Amino acid sequence: MTFKKNILCIGAGYVGGPTMAMIAYKCPQYKVTVVDTNPTRIAEWNSDDLPIYEPGLDEIVKATRGRNLFFSTEIERGIKEAEIIFVSVNTPTKTFGAGAGMAADLQYWEKTASQIRNCAESHKIIVEKSTLPVKTALAMERILTSQENDTHFDVVSNPEFLAEGTAIKDLEDPDRVLIGSRETQSGFKARDELVEIYTNWVPKERIITSNIWSSELSKLVANAFLSQRISSINSITALCEKTEADITEVAKAVGTDSRVGNKFLNASVGFGGSCFKKDILNLVYLCRHYGLNEVASYWEGVVRINEYQKERFVLNILSAMFNTLAGKKICLLGFAFKANTGDTRESPAIFIAKKLIEEKAELVITDPEALNNARIDLDGIEGKISYIEDPYEASDGCDAIAVMTEWEIYKSLDFEKIYRSMFKPAFIFDGRNILDHKRLFEIGFNVFPIGKPSLTHF
Ligand code: UDX
Ligand code: UDX
Repeated sequence: MTFKKNILCIGAGYVGGPTMAMIAYKCPQYKVTVVDTNPTRIAEWNSDDLPIYEPGLDEIVKATRGRNLFFSTEIERGIKEAEIIFVSVNTPTKTFGAGAGMAADLQYWEKTASQIRNCAESHKIIVEKSTLPVKTALAMERILTSQENDTHFDVVSNPEFLAEGTAIKDLEDPDRVLIGSRETQSGFKARDELVEIYTNWVPKERIITSNIWSSELSKLVANAFLSQRISSINSITALCEKTEADITEVAKAVGTDSRVGNKFLNASVGFGGSCFKKDILNLVYLCRHYGLNEVASYWEGVVRINEYQKERFVLNILSAMFNTLAGKKICLLGFAFKANTGDTRESPAIFIAKKLIEEKAELVITDPEALNNARIDLDGIEGKISYIEDPYEASDGCDAIAVMTEWEIYKSLDFEKIYRSMFKPAFIFDGRNILDHKRLFEIGFNVFPIGKPSLTHF
């Protein structure tokens, strides 16, 4: 079969895999190949057990794999054959040298750019899919043209706004698709080629085009705004706990103002995930780099409140349980950074588990999808930790339950049964405010929600 276009994606991760599966699904006329340096990951994408859990992903991959979606480790061949190359390699926070702990580590990015330059034999459109510091396209262009050859490259920015757990829905029905390009004839042409891909299923009015720097920056700013909302509401939970105000009522009262909006105002034990912290720190670093220290401090506050919220949660457990956790058994209900994913990157549960272990508590961790990652995250930590998938078995004999992830299944657990099997007095710390606190109190639990008065029997 001959295809209208060859699309390549370098990086078969949480973003690259599902995004390319959706393009292949919606555009049977294109051949989409996803390559990765990690052969195990590619083998998983080619198996029945995909490397990531995302509702709806299996079906889309099954429908397209071998038809017009291919997973491979042959990066050089992929580059040669493709007209459009999406780059979706990871851009973690730098752990060394200048900007350590803040700036984006662009080593994989640069390596990929050099590899494209060395293999390309014809014109390519290079699409920045990874989240990058503003002005990365300029560096990319310099690397791509740093060797004497006639190949022409157009770099465009097309950041991905999908959230984990809803990736397929977000890809199928996005609020917007953003495409930034150079404002030259060739830049506009490259931009239009990308627009053409998305118009296969996204209404034209939702495809936004901009200059390339705005597009790069918008992704960082979108994540900064979203996490700022969570830190804003979480900062108020601390005040609610001191004043008997109820954060759910406050969030509703504030969020019904249409200028504010009601989304992303769920108080929590803190935000996690691979993007929020990394991207805000990246923004902070950029501001400092340009000498904008006030702007940097403003955004840094979002991360500071998030750290404070996680610490506060542990301190609340400690003080509620009579200031000692030594030898007490605590069940962490959930470990993923949010529901409907097995991903645990930057999950607040990691920080909280470590702190509880420092207090010499014994941990039982349960999660429907994230136990394998939890084991990896806590590997090598000295302390008593067990991993049990069944929540009833996990909470059996525990002194306390701490809700870390808002899994739907936790809302309908038989808490009378759980209460009977627990050590008394039994505690519940609801880090997501998903449970029926009044009912739990009636059952006999001492209940500690986030940003609401606690309900205790003593
Ligand atoms: C992506 C983006 O790249 C990141 O910038 C954004 O902020 C979030 O989404 P993600 O897909 O979550 O990251 O990363 P990950 O799941 O780690 O996938 C990256 C993949 O790239 C990995 O499979 C890795 O093996 C691969 N990779 C990395 C390469 O193929 N080549 C490299 O040189 C480096
Ligand atoms: C985020 C952005 O939403 C997405 O657009 C971007 O492309 C990548 O980063 P993701 O990290 O997958 O997506 O999940 P998201 O739903 O944004 O949640 C991030 C964290 O915030 C989770 O830990 C979640 O539990 C927490 N959260 C979210 C809250 O604590 N309260 C809320 O109201 C919403």
